[in-house]
Amino acid sequence: MNDPHGPGPMAETRLTPAQVRALYPGARSQIYLDVAGRCPVGTSVREAIDRHLDMRMLGGDKQAMFALVERTRASFARLINAHPDEVAYTKNISEGLNIAATAIDWKPGDNVVLCAELEHANNVYVWLNLRRRFGVEVRAIPMRNGVYPVQEMAAAIDSRTRLVTVCAVSFAPGLRTDLAPLAQACRRQDVLFMVDGAQSAGMVDSDVERLGIDALAVSTQKGLMGLYGMGFLYVRRRWAERMSPMFLARFGVDLGSKGEAALGDYDFELMPGARRFDLGNYNFLGAAAAEAALDLLHRVGIERIEAHNLMLAERLAEGLQALGLPVIGAPRGAHRCQIVMIGSLGEGHDAADDGAMQSLYEHLSANKVKLSVRRGALRFSIHVYNDIGDIDQVLALVRDWRR
Ligand SMILES: Cc1ncc(COP(=O)(O)O)c(C=O)c1O
Repeated sequence: MNDPHGPGPMAETRLTPAQVRALYPGARSQIYLDVAGRCPVGTSVREAIDRHLDMRMLGGDKQAMFALVERTRASFARLINAHPDEVAYTKNISEGLNIAATAIDWKPGDNVVLCAELEHANNVYVWLNLRRRFGVEVRAIPMRNGVYPVQEMAAAIDSRTRLVTVCAVSFAPGLRTDLAPLAQACRRQDVLFMVDGAQSAGMVDSDVERLGIDALAVSTQKGLMGLYGMGFLYVRRRWAERMSPMFLARFGVDLGSKGEAALGDYDFELMPGARRFDLGNYNFLGAAAAEAALDLLHRVGIERIEAHNLMLAERLAEGLQALGLPVIGAPRGAHRCQIVMIGSLGEGHDAADDGAMQSLYEHLSANKVKLSVRRGALRFSIHVYNDIGDIDQVLALVRDWRR
């Protein structure tokens, strides 16, 4: 198995963001600023999908498919500086969150600390379900200025807290979370620190060692530039091995080199680390797409991708602010990341709460800018295939609209 801490494949040639852009027709035929919704599929990813389907049209080689799954698992692990044994396959974020949540032995009165106002509903219902089923207390701490109130959340941890959860970057207003104080507080008090990586993985650094993340749920259709219906769940080995999966299937059981349908003793051992959370056959097509997409990310390098995304986001945020638009959060600084939102947070999904913002959204959409509206505000989100020209064209369109 590949060692994620190793140097990576020797044949890997470096790519620039401009070379990635050349593989993304969807980022050249329009101004694509909606990776927070989903990434367009690139040509090398499409080719990998086609190759997989060509193979499957002849029936397909199962051993080759398992090898693909292990290569892609190692590639996910490398992206977040984990070991492949700490990565389980899932179909999306909510499945990853639910797998982790239901593998803990909850007692009535245990609690989870979160900030519901900044979460996607999928990182709230999972905990409300535990509240209903097991009497778990859901401690929701109010947000502060659009960011996670990390000091207050850390202070809310007590002897009954089992888990703290946040997004590394919220889906709205799209600001970056200061993970360190929470990671430290969780580590000190033996609490699982669970992060939703929907809006961060592949776009900004997600090194689980450096950031102190114990569990991370990710899907592949956004920053990982793959398909829907495919994701992964990272769980730090020392946590995973304290957890019992609610669902169990052959791949979660350690039977050494026995076949995929083998049944061992009724008294069985779980697989090491997060592998115990794998269920039945895999989404091989999703793995083929993810492998090709991650190849691009690794070849640019996550540090360079983050620097590129931040440079463009700061240019956009400063440009919009200079035009008098209400940018949420400071254009630069610790909370800025690849998402830039304008307006004020409300309710609207796909329609702005404010008439002026809705008119700007319509003007930009009519001029081939692909962006989204979340919580009533306009959301621009940047990835490696974007360039300065995209940002400057958006700013020029905003200037036109103001006239
Ligand atoms: C922060 C965040 N969490 C979760 C999700 C989606 O969850 P799932 O992958 O379960 O559909 C999104 C999707 O937009 C998101 O932005």
